[in-house]
Amino acid sequence: MINGSTVLFGIMGDPISHTASPRMHNAAFQLLDLNYVYVPLHVLPTNLEAACRAARTLKLKGFNVTVPHKEAILAYLDEVDPFARAIGAVNTVVSIENRLVGFNTDAPGFLFALKEELGIKIAGKTVAILGAGGTAKALSIALAHAGVGKLGVINRTLANATSVISAVCDKCEASAITLNTPEMRRYLSQCDVIVNTTSVGMVEGESPVDDYGWVKQGQVVCDVIYSPEKTTLLREAEVRDAVVLNGVGMLAAQGMLAFELFTGKPVSYSFMKDQILKGKS
Ligand code: ATR
Repeated sequence: MINGSTVLFGIMGDPISHTASPRMHNAAFQLLDLNYVYVPLHVLPTNLEAACRAARTLKLKGFNVTVPHKEAILAYLDEVDPFARAIGAVNTVVSIENRLVGFNTDAPGFLFALKEELGIKIAGKTVAILGAGGTAKALSIALAHAGVGKLGVINRTLANATSVISAVCDKCEASAITLNTPEMRRYLSQCDVIVNTTSVGMVEGESPVDDYGWVKQGQVVCDVIYSPEKTTLLREAEVRDAVVLNGVGMLAAQGMLAFELFTGKPVSYSFMKDQILKGKS
């Protein structure tokens, strides 16, 4: 029951109506009997600074940040956790003594889901990332921290892949590869884990890759997309006996990690995942 002492949380994004985060966080607040509420906040890019001022004025205890604000928000925070600073993107902000402090739980969330769902630890593995945007950069840095053996960043525009690997090439063996070339197919066929970070696949029937001859039995193919539940890439990989993982796990795990930053209390991965799945059914 919302009353005079209810503590406010939210998520800033544009668009925002599709977000699963209010469902996850409010269910977890209820589970732990916390007098907290989490609401969607539709913030246009031109209003991000004003929205951060409003968050201070209205004393939001914390908020998540989603597309397209994850990089721009850094300019309006008082402090940024070193890992989020290295990635250059924040998805979780906590008000600590009225100072806005930014964190990134997206990339650690992906690694958590990979371990929780498939028992995979990244140390020493050969990994490919498809795409070279913000998510690709975040994952590359998290993978390098986690001791990845070899990393290939595969992208339509090679210069963007080169820019992503420049952030990690002193920490792991990394290469930039052009999408849909023989070099890509060669590299993918050697990979233990492949992750699509592009938005290609959100539309049924579309895929970032134009051929699947490289898929090997037992290879792990992941997509950060969670709707549709199985992208064309995952379906094509699965019929060739790869192990697949969609973006629901990453979404649940980033929420679980953000919840702990917001409240100082743990919530389980499976609880957060159940809330997302309930929202889809
Ligand atoms: P985010 O920050 O969410 O990771 P982004 O910065 O928009 O997203 O990055 C999108 C990535 O998807 C880019 O790597 C983009 O490739 P380019 O660097 O060549 O632009 C890739 N991408 C987008 N649409 C694509 C398409 N139709 N085919 C292949 N790659 C695509």
